[in-house]
Amino acid sequence: MTKALVSPSILSADFVNLERDVKRLAEWGADYVHCDVMDGVYVKNLTFGMPMIKAIKRISPLPLDVHLMITEPERYLDEFVSAGADIVTFHPDASRDPERALDMLGERGVKRGIVINPDVRLEDYIRLLHKCDVLLVMSVFAGLGGQKFIPETLDTVRRGKKYILENGLDVIIEIDGGVGAANAATCREAGVDMIVAGSAVFNASDPAGVVNALRG
Ligand code: DX5
Ligand code: ZN
Repeated sequence: MTKALVSPSILSADFVNLERDVKRLAEWGADYVHCDVMDGVYVKNLTFGMPMIKAIKRISPLPLDVHLMITEPERYLDEFVSAGADIVTFHPDASRDPERALDMLGERGVKRGIVINPDVRLEDYIRLLHKCDVLLVMSVFAGLGGQKFIPETLDTVRRGKKYILENGLDVIIEIDGGVGAANAATCREAGVDMIVAGSAVFNASDPAGVVNALRG
């Protein structure tokens, strides 16, 4: 089994010491900084927007993996790219025209992808994978860190992997929510290439050890 990329979510970082925590991610061996943008409309919670991405970009040694949990993401894609996002993923069910949104990201030259919540059928959006670099499968309902992993979502990972392989696509599968050292191997076995983890990394006594365990 191949190793996974690791993208810790700064939602679980100490916002007062964000510069310190973002810089530590590189020391812990992570590959990306996962930034959870929530608008209080598509999801109940509110987090941060473009100015925060811009600020993190200034100090982060690692590329930014920006997960947009916002309604009509197409309104802000340009600004998130300009702020320094390296990967932009959005929920297609929140978009008026997900195909156009992917085209906009493609024109800006960033890596792009769609996010599938546990109650969204991958098959309703699967043709969009032809325009994606990333398929992000939510293993909890988007909106909050620290939730319990939903094992049934691994079936979405498997179906996504099958489609990607059958169609010869260059798309990686990312998983997000409730993942830690204990269930990372199951995720990788199902076909996951990149693991997001918030609480499992930031609440650990040995975060570098957790990053290493997630990678496999
Ligand atoms: C949830 C976010 C996740 C979250 C993961 O809506 O998309 O990225 O921060 O947190 P954990 O790993 O604690 O479930
Ligand atoms: Zn996320």
